[in-house]
Amino acid sequence: MASKSKKTDPLASLDRSALPRHVAVIMDGNGRWAKSKGWRRVRGHEEGAESVRVIVRSCRKLGIDALTLYAFSEENWARPKAEVEALMRLLGRFLKKERQEMLDQGIRLNAIGSIERLPKSTRKLLDQTMADTSQGKDMVLTLALSYGGRQELTQAARRLAADAAAGKLDPESIGEDALAARLYTAGLPEVDLMIRTSGELRVSNFLLWQIAYAEFYFTDTFFPDFREAELARAFQAYADRERRFGQTGDQLGVSG
Ligand code: FPP
Repeated sequence: MASKSKKTDPLASLDRSALPRHVAVIMDGNGRWAKSKGWRRVRGHEEGAESVRVIVRSCRKLGIDALTLYAFSEENWARPKAEVEALMRLLGRFLKKERQEMLDQGIRLNAIGSIERLPKSTRKLLDQTMADTSQGKDMVLTLALSYGGRQELTQAARRLAADAAAGKLDPESIGEDALAARLYTAGLPEVDLMIRTSGELRVSNFLLWQIAYAEFYFTDTFFPDFREAELARAFQAYADRERRFGQTGDQLGVSG
C-alpha cells in the first residue's frame, strides 16, 4: 500500500535555545496579496487572520514567551470605512474562535493602544477575552490595536509629568525604568526580534522604545503567505545573528 508522504515540520529543526523571547510582527501586504489574485482587499485580511492563527500556534509550540502583533495602527482609522469595519469584524471573529484555544494553551491575551477608540462591541469582546485568559502563564499574545509608538511615548511622558507634579516622583530620579513602567508594554520583555512582511523596510511607528536592541527580519512575502516555513526562516536568521548590545565579540566570548 502506498504510504502517505509525511509533511516535514519546518519548526522541528530549530535550536530552541537560540529562539527569541519576545517576537513582534508588522503584518503587512494583505491588500497587495489579495489584489495580485484579483480579489477584494478584505479577502487578504481574512487570509491574514489565518496566518495569525498559525503564527500564534507555532510560537506557543516553540515556547516563545511573548508575541506582539501590529493588528491596527492609529493611522489605519483613515482607511475606507468598509475596510475598517471589516477589520473590526474579523478581530471579533478571531477572538470568539480562538478563545478556547488560548485557554487550552495557557495563552494570555493582552491589548495595547488607544483601545477606547475601538467600537464598543469589539472592546467588550476584547475585555472579556482578556479577563477569561488572564491566568494564562505560557505565552502572552499582545494585539496592538489603534496603536502608535509616538502616542505611547507621549502618554508615558504625560503620566511621568503628572506623577512629578503630584509630588509622587522626583524629576531628577526619572530613569529608563520609570518611563518603561508607564508604557503599554510594562511587564513584557524587550523585543528580541521584529519581523515585517511584504518587502517594506520601515518601522511605521511600532514599538519605538521597545525595539532599541531588536534584531530585524524583513521578507518580501505578503502576510497571508507568512506561515510555518516563513516563521522558521525568520527564527533561523535570528539564531544565526550575533547580538552584542554595543559590546565587542571578545567581551561576549563570540566571534567577530
Ligand atoms: C496590513 O496590510 C495589515 C493590516 C492593516 C491589518 C492586519 C490585520 C490582520 C492580519 C488580520 C486581522 C487581525 C487579527 C488579529 C485577527 P495592508 O492592508 O496594509 O496591505 P497592503 O500594504 O498590501 O495594502
